[in-house]
Amino acid sequence: MRDQLAAVSLNDADEVPRAQFSDRVPIRSIVSRPDRGSGLVGRKARVGGWVKTGRKADKDAFAFLELNDGSSAANLQIIVDASLGDLGQLVPTGTCVVVDGELKAHPNPKGKQKVELRAQKVLHVGPVDPAKYPLPKTRLTLEFLRDFVHLRSRTNTISAVARIRHALAYATHTFFHNQGFLYVHTPIITTSDCEGAGEMFQVTTLLSEAEKLEKELAQNPLPTQADVEAARLVVKEKGDIVSQLKSAKASKAEVNASVDELKQAKESLSKLEERSKLKPGIPQKDGKVDYTNDFFARQAFLTVSGQLQVESYASALGGVYTFGPTFRAENSHTSRHLAEFWMVEPEIAFAELKDDMNCAEAYVKFLCQWLLDNCLEDMEFMADKFDKGCIDRLKMVSSTPFVRVTYTEAVEILEEAVKNGKKFENEVKWGIDLASEHERYLTEVKFQKPVIVYNYPKEIKAFYMRVNDDSKTVAAMDVLVPKVGELVGGSEREERYDVIQERIKEMGLPLEPYEWYLDLRRYGTVKHSGFGLGFERMILFATGLENIRDVIPFPRYPGRADL
Ligand code: 4AD
Ligand code: MG
Repeated sequence: MRDQLAAVSLNDADEVPRAQFSDRVPIRSIVSRPDRGSGLVGRKARVGGWVKTGRKADKDAFAFLELNDGSSAANLQIIVDASLGDLGQLVPTGTCVVVDGELKAHPNPKGKQKVELRAQKVLHVGPVDPAKYPLPKTRLTLEFLRDFVHLRSRTNTISAVARIRHALAYATHTFFHNQGFLYVHTPIITTSDCEGAGEMFQVTTLLSEAEKLEKELAQNPLPTQADVEAARLVVKEKGDIVSQLKSAKASKAEVNASVDELKQAKESLSKLEERSKLKPGIPQKDGKVDYTNDFFARQAFLTVSGQLQVESYASALGGVYTFGPTFRAENSHTSRHLAEFWMVEPEIAFAELKDDMNCAEAYVKFLCQWLLDNCLEDMEFMADKFDKGCIDRLKMVSSTPFVRVTYTEAVEILEEAVKNGKKFENEVKWGIDLASEHERYLTEVKFQKPVIVYNYPKEIKAFYMRVNDDSKTVAAMDVLVPKVGELVGGSEREERYDVIQERIKEMGLPLEPYEWYLDLRRYGTVKHSGFGLGFERMILFATGLENIRDVIPFPRYPGRADL
């Protein structure tokens, strides 16, 4: 109630409007205005945030706090008079402070900040012990920050990445919504291996069940054969008593009581027998793990891609997309791979490879333009701190047609480069899976713009890609971009029942888990195409950051899954 009253008394015409669902003014709505807040001089505001840097001044008469609340890259300077509180507690980096105050013109009108807030009341202090706070300094390496993923969102870089990431997610939904696509939530737990690469994390309760049983057995050992025999004997004895009482024409009450005892003896016997069958360890059948005892009564995994499932919706709703986390148990320690990453996967019915490439190009361009239109402040920060060229790169990509070359042409270009003295670690010849160094040569050196490579050899691509008339290549396409290499992988899908069935067998995959997928070809098949854009790779590309572990809030990679 007191809070409400305080809010009402402050929330008059001279106060800067507060956020709708929290009791303060986002700093962004002061400092990110076109006039950088100068039009708000004289107005009151309640702000809350975390101190970036603080210092006492004028013989501890007041303190300067650079406050950031994450609503924008910019801070607001707060001036707190010593009469308002313990300044020593306010100044350490990381301290949370909520103040009411009045906006004043900044004494240095030429600087970036046009206004500062002169505090009138300190409403809250979330103190920090600088000797213990893990991020007391302002300049820390991104690598160091990976050990503090729960606190690193307070840094300029990680909070800028969070805003850029949000903007790209919002742009993604906007783009596909505008194109009439439906957002479909595909399952995270799956029983089909989309890429057929066997890089799946297994989802099972067998291990924890086995551990639970092991613990229970340690306290409460299995019944021995002798225990079971003794229980059988009791049943027999109780049975005999019932018969004797019946033949001696005993009273109903006596007979009923003995029947109850017999029932109890039978129950204990059956419990003992059941328990004696328990086997410690993982259940086995014919020398293999018996998954019929597992949670889903079959083997299950975390999805590597929502594509197969989203195809079923495309085959009914036309244009659809899924956007969710995907998981790969590849033991890659590179700066471009995560074990858990997010993928945007559109799937378009009545569309062939060309439509797919057009969609991917339009989408990537839309994302770049979106950042230029909506995230310039954070992009300028990235340009300043990490990659001078990142804004120009967004401009270039959003306005330049992507180069399109076949895989065969791409290999010829690489062979030509080798002839002219370019050294690659991986050999170049038709049939190879392009390595990252090859992809980056094509997009960074040869063309210096995004390149779509299409029609790959079928041997190096997944079973679902449509086989071309040459029978050697499939209608696959990868979008390669500077800084990152492969950003998008997609294809036209094999819609012919006989061909896809053959391909599954050819790849040595079992048919059974894909029967439902084959149904999409058995019943009302349609040509269709789609792709997957690695969301973190898009953020790497946009920001110019070097390591994918810094563009996802909680990175998972071999050996690490913090929190
Ligand atoms: O090329 P990929 O494996 O394609 C698929 O999964 C298809 N099922 C997509 C589809 O057609 N619907 O993966 C797509 C993209 C890659 O181009 C890359 O950007 C990203 O996902 N990616 C990864 N990103 C981070 N860490 C990893 N381990 C990644 N693996 C793939
Ligand atoms: Mg790929």
